[in-house]
Amino acid sequence: MTQRTHSVLLLPGDGVGVEVVREAVKVLERAAELFGFSLSFTRLPVGGEAIDQTGHPLPPETLQAAKDADAVLLGAVGGPKWDDLPTDKRPEAALLGLRESLGLFANLRPAILFDELAHASTIREEVIRGIDIMVIRELNRGIYFGTPRGISGEKGERVGINTLSYSEPEIERIARVAFQIARGRKKKVTSVDKANVLESMALWREVVVRIHKDYPDVELEHMYVDNCAMQLIRRPAEFDTILTTNLFGDILSDEAAMLTGSIGMLASASLGGAGDGGAIFGMYEPVHGSAPDIAGSDIANPLATILSAAMMLEYSLGETEAARAVEQSVRSAVREGLRTADIATQGESISTTSDMGDEIVKRLSLD
Ligand code: IPM
Ligand code: MG
Repeated sequence: MTQRTHSVLLLPGDGVGVEVVREAVKVLERAAELFGFSLSFTRLPVGGEAIDQTGHPLPPETLQAAKDADAVLLGAVGGPKWDDLPTDKRPEAALLGLRESLGLFANLRPAILFDELAHASTIREEVIRGIDIMVIRELNRGIYFGTPRGISGEKGERVGINTLSYSEPEIERIARVAFQIARGRKKKVTSVDKANVLESMALWREVVVRIHKDYPDVELEHMYVDNCAMQLIRRPAEFDTILTTNLFGDILSDEAAMLTGSIGMLASASLGGAGDGGAIFGMYEPVHGSAPDIAGSDIANPLATILSAAMMLEYSLGETEAARAVEQSVRSAVREGLRTADIATQGESISTTSDMGDEIVKRLSLD
């Protein structure tokens, strides 16, 4: 029998990205060993690192390697060193370029509360207890990519323009992802829009209602984005799956992340369409950024990247058992009191980035 082989492109990027991806690779290698598959890793520069080496945040070789891989695991991009560059030359442009060129239109951002870490949230424990939210953000269209865009005109009279547009097929494909994912959860979708003011959002709502007819077992509610921002603070545990646009999803996923109090724990997946054999190509990355202030000091929390690697095992590599095992190891490490500095309370002993990775590896097992 030939062994299952998966190719993974590693893009550690900038700041703590390097350290957290290193730990996730340790975990992936152990999972492969235990669950009987093999992984081939390629590592290439992206973001600030790529700007320094090649003058471009997303070099063509990096993009091509991403297209050739089964999945991409990314650390983080950006840092003060590159902050003064124009928008299209900044490290962040690499992220947008990867999302667009790879057709990654569905961004899944789970916000889960680890009970043991509830004290870390700025919101009262009784309000956040039981939070398990999946934000599904459209990632390829909307105001991030719409045209016309740009700044034009004479100095003093210049106009800055961005365009918010969604076509019916673009709304339909992201709505289907949300309904399908909700089926594996609590079967409730909250579609978030601004249909009371924006035509593009009125169309959004209309299409979501139409697609919902194919998923009668899933409950659908609509919410205006301003109200959603409020309800997320007021009664977050009542949300299950949130379906929304690129810009609203950017904002609401940060809000949802903050409810849990531990952004160092949150994973994400950016998915394209299903390829041959049903595998979904995806790029996986922690929700936190490059944290330049702590880069290189071995104190960053690698769990968000390790959990992103688990999502990769599940969605793109079809290694569901290995994915569950990685998640279990993370849960048990947290339950047993292992803490990196960001999730520790006073008096708790603190693990380094690499200790935490080792502890997850140690806990990985077949059952
Ligand atoms: C995110 C980030 C990016 C976004 C930036 C870095 C381009 O905020 O992934 O949420 O706005 O999408
Ligand atoms: Mg964001």
